[in-house]
Amino acid sequence: MTERDWERRAPGRVKEVTSLSNPLVKDIRALALKKYRDREHVFMAEGLKLVLDAFDEGWTIRTLVYAKAGRGNTAVEKAAARTVASGGLVLEVSEKVLSTITRRDNPQMVVGVFAQRYRALGEIRAAEGDVWVALDRARDPGNLGTVIRTVDAVGARGVILVGECTDPFSLETVRATMGSLFSVPLARAEPEAFLSWRKDFPGLVIGTHLKGSVDYRAIEYAGRPVLLLMGNEQQGLPDRLAETCDRLARIPQAGRADSLNLAVATGVMLYEIRRKVLPMAAPETGP
Ligand SMILES: C[S@@+](CC[C@H](N)C(=O)[O-])C[C@H]1O[C@@H](n2cnc3c(N)ncnc32)[C@H](O)[C@@H]1O
Repeated sequence: MTERDWERRAPGRVKEVTSLSNPLVKDIRALALKKYRDREHVFMAEGLKLVLDAFDEGWTIRTLVYAKAGRGNTAVEKAAARTVASGGLVLEVSEKVLSTITRRDNPQMVVGVFAQRYRALGEIRAAEGDVWVALDRARDPGNLGTVIRTVDAVGARGVILVGECTDPFSLETVRATMGSLFSVPLARAEPEAFLSWRKDFPGLVIGTHLKGSVDYRAIEYAGRPVLLLMGNEQQGLPDRLAETCDRLARIPQAGRADSLNLAVATGVMLYEIRRKVLPMAAPETGP
């Protein structure tokens, strides 16, 4: 293929845009708002690394936006070629347009607009060694992104969003996942649907609670799938979710803090579960 052959092969799907009032730019900019993300079922991911992570994991790109300065950059050109090959649109834009889209003064060189993806709750079939995390009404995008990143790091299977959670596809959450969003399956459910799915969950359901009756280190997690249920940042787990758990675990605390941050508590739990369960399931990297 000759240089920028992809551009010649996709007439009409590669555009240069410098105007902030261009309708394509306005549509992408609108994706900062949940109602437009929900309407279009798409979201933005900033940065070449995230875009390449998404390609690796088979996510569908709708539009690739790159700064003029990226012209000639091999990785950017490859991403653009891949976008047009999969039927997407490529926009070469000024840095000002990119800043407007990402609402940042120093934007990344590349932004991808991808189709959202949720796993249906009914499709989740947990087997021994599998660990799923369910978050009850998680409100903070940084917490949700950090949980998704941690789930990825420990080799857990995925995250179930129960009730009205913050949007996993907001710019803030996507940023906080550092690319893990693309490799961690997400499901979502209203509490009733979650409780009914839970009845058929073939393993151990562990809720975390400030008044939990058991120290999280005393639980035997191995030998069956684990579902870890974490409560809302302000209110903790409501009774009807707490009552569905096989055990309610408490992480001991010293000092004056009344609780741990949701993402920190999830990390503490997941590393304890990993220590007891996941070494068999997930290959480790590093020392
Ligand atoms: C910020 S805490 C919620 C605090 C809330 N005020 C409450 O009363 O539960 C968010 C979630 O993190 C988990 N968590 C935080 N600290 C914990 C601890 N020490 N033991 C067990 N779970 C904890 C629980 O799932 C909790 O619902």
